[in-house]
Amino acid sequence: MRVLKMSVFLGLIVALMFSCTSTPKNENSIKKEVFGTMPSGEQVFLYTLRNEKGMEATITNYGGIVVSLLVPDKNNKMGDVVLGYNNLEGFLHDSPYFGALIGRFGNRIAKGKFTLEGKEYTLAINNGENTLHGGLKGFDKVVWTPEEIKTADGRPGLKLTYLSKDMEEGYPGNLSVTVVYSLTDDSGLQIDYSATTDKATVINLTNHSYFNLSGEGSGTILNQLMMINADKYTPIDQGLIPTGELADVEGTPFDFREPTAIGKRINEDNQQLKFGLGYDHNFVLNKKDSEMSLAARVSDPKSGRVMEVYTTEPGLQFYSGNFLDGKIIGKSGRAYNYRDAFVLETQHFPDSPNHPGFPSTVLRPGEKYVSQTIYKFTTE
Ligand code: GLA
Repeated sequence: MRVLKMSVFLGLIVALMFSCTSTPKNENSIKKEVFGTMPSGEQVFLYTLRNEKGMEATITNYGGIVVSLLVPDKNNKMGDVVLGYNNLEGFLHDSPYFGALIGRFGNRIAKGKFTLEGKEYTLAINNGENTLHGGLKGFDKVVWTPEEIKTADGRPGLKLTYLSKDMEEGYPGNLSVTVVYSLTDDSGLQIDYSATTDKATVINLTNHSYFNLSGEGSGTILNQLMMINADKYTPIDQGLIPTGELADVEGTPFDFREPTAIGKRINEDNQQLKFGLGYDHNFVLNKKDSEMSLAARVSDPKSGRVMEVYTTEPGLQFYSGNFLDGKIIGKSGRAYNYRDAFVLETQHFPDSPNHPGFPSTVLRPGEKYVSQTIYKFTTE
């Protein structure tokens, strides 16, 4: 009896020791490490968010870039589903907006000009004759102020703030921007954007993660199945600027209302696909006002990974990696080739400041810009 009691006691001690020394595998957490040093001498960091299921998102406060995103496949094997580099130099040197926060104005503004409250503003031209993703130094290229926080419901979050000064890149108003990254318990990467201004301005924030559900560097995404919850899209001209029309997707290669392989129609003889060199178009999401609703669902027959995109935004830019050309060698030493990733940017429509018929992107003093997007992962 005594021996039995003793061994139960010892057993308890051993169990206690184990629970204290083993790393807490399945816990919500956030961890900070140094990522590198900016040319200015400023240090930037990497924050790794982890949820109870072991999903991990690693984000740097340089550009608010999602550096890696680890999610399980159908065999519970973790894989990194976003393209990028594993060092700061890569992002500083040559990055087509990998994983970055985009602002002050996502996508294109025609000829870098818009008129607001009777005044014409001129932005830098950085894409053909247009302004793309904010301008020469958009929010993807600035150092954000990081802070580890708890979300309202108690999850760890990374809060990034940035003050975009009046007339920075040509936009009016001191814009105070906050972005919070967090992981949901059901394996979503949640992004909450908010902003206020002291002068009327235009704003369109998004994230530019390049996804490959088979894993970054694993080849083409053309076999992955795309569903986009949109009856209409905004056709573009040669410079990828919306013509202003909202066109039906019905009967076109832009009909993704049923899951369809990305590559199935991408090379069809279609003027819009030629202008975009593939898909590089904004979809008009089916939704009521700014409700949080399903925008897209992508599934990968190979890995069994599924990604659903939920957003409060009215639009979704689907870009099929048409400018990747194999010159960039990614984090696992493999080249990123043509169409090795897709991007789903939740947003207001491109060039909205020049299209009074599009949902407004104007933000005025006293108002608060809020936007939420969740990239949620499951398997099938
Ligand atoms: C967006 C644009 C594309 C391209 C990529 C970055 O998706 O719509 O045309 O510029 O960003 O290369």
